Amino acid sequence: MSDVNSSASPAPAESLLRLDGISKTFGSTTALKGLNVDIRKGEFVTVVGPSGCGKSTLFNIVAGLEEPDAGGTLSFDGRQQKASALLGQVAFMPQKDLLLPWRSVIDNAILAIEMDGMSKKEARALALKMLPEFGLAGFENQLPHQLSGGMRQRVALMRTFLFKRDLMLLDEPFGALDALTRTMMQRWLLDVWQRHNRTILFITHDVDEAIFLGDRVLVVTARPGRIKLEQKIDLPRPRRPELVTEPAFINLKRNLLEAIEEESMKSFV
Ligand SMILES: Nc1ncnc2c1ncn2[C@@H]1O[C@H](COP(=O)(O)OP(=O)(O)OP(=O)(O)O)[C@@H](O)[C@H]1O
Ligand SMILES: [Mg+2]
Repeated sequence: MSDVNSSASPAPAESLLRLDGISKTFGSTTALKGLNVDIRKGEFVTVVGPSGCGKSTLFNIVAGLEEPDAGGTLSFDGRQQKASALLGQVAFMPQKDLLLPWRSVIDNAILAIEMDGMSKKEARALALKMLPEFGLAGFENQLPHQLSGGMRQRVALMRTFLFKRDLMLLDEPFGALDALTRTMMQRWLLDVWQRHNRTILFITHDVDEAIFLGDRVLVVTARPGRIKLEQKIDLPRPRRPELVTEPAFINLKRNLLEAIEEESMKSFV
């Protein structure tokens, strides 16, 4: 069948998450002020910005764990809602891995799906099959204190991934990994994202990682955080590892580093 629209550019995807004028104050600290962002279905958006600028606070709001100050609005899947209504609707990997010390690797990995109603037996079988993909084969019965920091991070990522939701929030998920494991996990994540049609918001301090993974990079200002720059990353997918040495990549990196540095300097003044 011919498609009369085949030469037209595709219609922009629908918005999945939209924040308008979001602020968050903790006592005398204003973490976020007037933050606006629109995340479309299926997008991979990376978030960078100086330490303490409010990135994790933003994720806590979107995960439904913190309510923003009055005045702003939050819409998810086209409906305006309170942040708390998003609890359980999004998959969230917090910056701290939050593994339960008395639970084994496998039982930590299934925590969210078990709480969501799946039987332990079914959940364990599902998770066991995935262990090799996360480099954790053979470690299913270990306790968190017997793991390295990078392994703990992978258990937490596996837990988030098993909790299948349209929106995944990943707060520095690869921060504790060595360069090679990190590259492998980045490729794995891109593959998962493409195959499973998820929408991902991903915080990182690594600009190369932000560009390599993202459709867009959001640069957050020094506190109080708001979006300073939205950099579209028009690099072809699938992203090839050599991309990071190409001029288009380097130019994007230069722009982004300049914006981040400007904000980092402010947060030190
Ligand atoms: N629950 C809380 N109570 C009081 N202050 C808080 C709370 N959560 C965050 N803050 C403050 O809000 C600001 C933003 O913190 P947040 O953790 O969001 O920063 P971040 O951008 O994630 O930093 P990093 O890159 O270091 O992880 C900080 O000044 C922090 O002290
Ligand atoms: Mg943080």
